[in-house]
Amino acid sequence: MPRPRGLLRVRPHPVTFVTFGPSRHAPIPIGHPTGHPRHFATSSGDNERVPLHPARRIAVAFLLVTSTAVLASLPLDDSSSSSSNNNNNNNNTKAAMSSKLVPPNPDEVMVIRDITPNVVTFSVPFLRFGRVPIGGRGTLVRLTSGSLAVFSPVALTDAARAKVASLGGDVRYLIASDVEHHIFLSEWARAYPDAKLIGPEGLPEKRRKVAAAGDDPRIGAEPFAVVATRESATGLSVDDEFDRDFAVEYVHAHPNRELVFLYRPEKVLIQADLLFNLPAVEQYSRVPEDQKPRPGLIANMFSRMQSTSGDATGMKRFMWHVISRGNRAAFNESVARIAQWDFDTIIPCHGETVIGGGKELFERVFEWHLEAEQGKGTKM
Ligand SMILES: [Fe+2]
Repeated sequence: MPRPRGLLRVRPHPVTFVTFGPSRHAPIPIGHPTGHPRHFATSSGDNERVPLHPARRIAVAFLLVTSTAVLASLPLDDSSSSSSNNNNNNNNTKAAMSSKLVPPNPDEVMVIRDITPNVVTFSVPFLRFGRVPIGGRGTLVRLTSGSLAVFSPVALTDAARAKVASLGGDVRYLIASDVEHHIFLSEWARAYPDAKLIGPEGLPEKRRKVAAAGDDPRIGAEPFAVVATRESATGLSVDDEFDRDFAVEYVHAHPNRELVFLYRPEKVLIQADLLFNLPAVEQYSRVPEDQKPRPGLIANMFSRMQSTSGDATGMKRFMWHVISRGNRAAFNESVARIAQWDFDTIIPCHGETVIGGGKELFERVFEWHLEAEQGKGTKM
């Protein structure tokens, strides 16, 4: 029998239990392994078979409920606050300008790293909500044609400009990988005016609003050459040159409307907010020790939920209950299509780059979604 899925399920005394996964079956009593009256687990995953100590149940439930309530109501980047809800020019809007979100000295703290012969990352510090150190990262790719593509651009520093020049300097594509990672598009577009702008639906309108309101001098109203829509989710085409090297999945079910790219020649997955990999070590590696942020309780809780270490249970719960809750079926379909791609490396915008084993990590983090997609049509 199907049964509702939820964050917290409470039965009358003496049995209280919590399930956090895509449960397919009724709870299964598993005896008295720790001396508590009864423990329950579901059969949908190993993580759910492990009975939680009552205090731990409460802590986990609190964490998840809190994160759901708070995070689901907020975009995944502070950057959006600089560019959304700009119908008024009140002080709050002004206070959220992107100048508050980017490091004042990007050239001093940016890490430029050759990931493969044709893929380079630009990593910088970035505080989400002004408190959580998640870092930021742009990615530069040299296509087999020799032209260049930039994904989720960060500040165009002198060193970044020199790196672009060392790879030929012919920037043809500037990509906002979702509706949040767009702040530096205008800066790069001015420097490389022949580049096509690419982004998800809604972003051009969002930027035009900000530009018209004059709320953020960084954000202009440049036209987009290619805009991903639901209709093009599985077949987004930029042009022959780009399409030769890249597969694209538009994860429109993600709250931030993620564009995920596979650079086929070097098996590199490039994405923004679909998959975090905290802590952001590289992105803070050039920040002087005494200037590094000291995360508090909430920041630590969030970082734990955005870590891929171990069985990534916190991240799985976050993905399942928070990120994909709006349209889980479409989210599952997108994730399943990405899982069919051939990649070893994952470049996230937040946290550590994964070099080697990227496919296995992806399958582990999205295990519940992949299982749900595979189980379509079967009794849940
Ligand atoms: Fe982000």
